[in-house]
Amino acid sequence: MPQVLVGFAAFMMDTETASPPWDATLDAASVLRNFSPEAADEVRALLGAHPAFNGMTDPQTLESVALDPEVLPTFMEDIRAMREEAWGGNNFVVIQPVEGLSLEQQMAVPWLIGQVLGHTLVQNQQGHRYYIITDRGGRIEEGARYSQTSQGGSFHTDGVNQKDNYEFMVLHCAVPAAEGGDSILLDGRMVYDDLRENAPPELEVLQQDFLWEYKGVRPGEFYHEPILRLVEGNPQWRYLRDYIEEAARLCGEPLSAEAVAALDRLDESLANPAFQFRFKLDAGQTAVVRDRSVFHGRNPFRDAPGTVSIEERLAAGLDAPLKRTYCRIWVNP
Ligand SMILES: [Fe+2]
Repeated sequence: MPQVLVGFAAFMMDTETASPPWDATLDAASVLRNFSPEAADEVRALLGAHPAFNGMTDPQTLESVALDPEVLPTFMEDIRAMREEAWGGNNFVVIQPVEGLSLEQQMAVPWLIGQVLGHTLVQNQQGHRYYIITDRGGRIEEGARYSQTSQGGSFHTDGVNQKDNYEFMVLHCAVPAAEGGDSILLDGRMVYDDLRENAPPELEVLQQDFLWEYKGVRPGEFYHEPILRLVEGNPQWRYLRDYIEEAARLCGEPLSAEAVAALDRLDESLANPAFQFRFKLDAGQTAVVRDRSVFHGRNPFRDAPGTVSIEERLAAGLDAPLKRTYCRIWVNP
């Protein structure tokens, strides 16, 4: 991006986003971004020589791949330009893989991206900042985290597990599902405009406090935050309905009829196919999403028989095919 445009986008981020809200008709090719050849060379040189990849037995080892500004100057420039574009544009981009990397090396790229974007956050009780998304066989209704199931639907933002949520969700596809698992994104501005026009009373309720659990991070502890906040006129969302209902149940504070009606109306907007931009990430692609501005979800998916988790494969030193394997990094600037 030319320097003058970067400056413009940075200015716009404090006021409002520059481009109009998008919907289902967004052109998928228009959100793809490539690293420059120089940046790709830097990444290959760093990862090719990194000891983390010698006999790796655990994907968490990837957290040891530190961002070195001396070694990755162009890579960092590229990411910052993409960040300004996301801020000033659609609030997300999809970054193409770096060619010539092994699967594990490619999985380190989103970790490097996260470090350029800012401070990475802990996502579970084990203290993982590099977080694997895969089907562990549980169900949301039985208390499993959405990210550890093969279930679909339930459009949400990720920043629901802690009161201080975050700017970016970095989502990387290491291996896609055999069937399903397409990503679905919705522009929070489009949803807001729909509610403002067609459901003002429900919109009011969404701006009142709801009860949330520090789910997966500090289970059994709770906080209050609204689903919708207007920050300088821009809608910022925090939403995952299953978690709201579970927190209400756990605390014995049932949702009011008014609250349920507001959630139903929000879900109705989110279920509108005209708002849903659908795409399936290919192996090696990384989506960088402004979490409070874009809702996301997915189709349910099915893994091929005989596929294993990344942990199983690395621990056993197997070359077995993998289940759907995504990784996620939460980042604050
Ligand atoms: Fe999510």
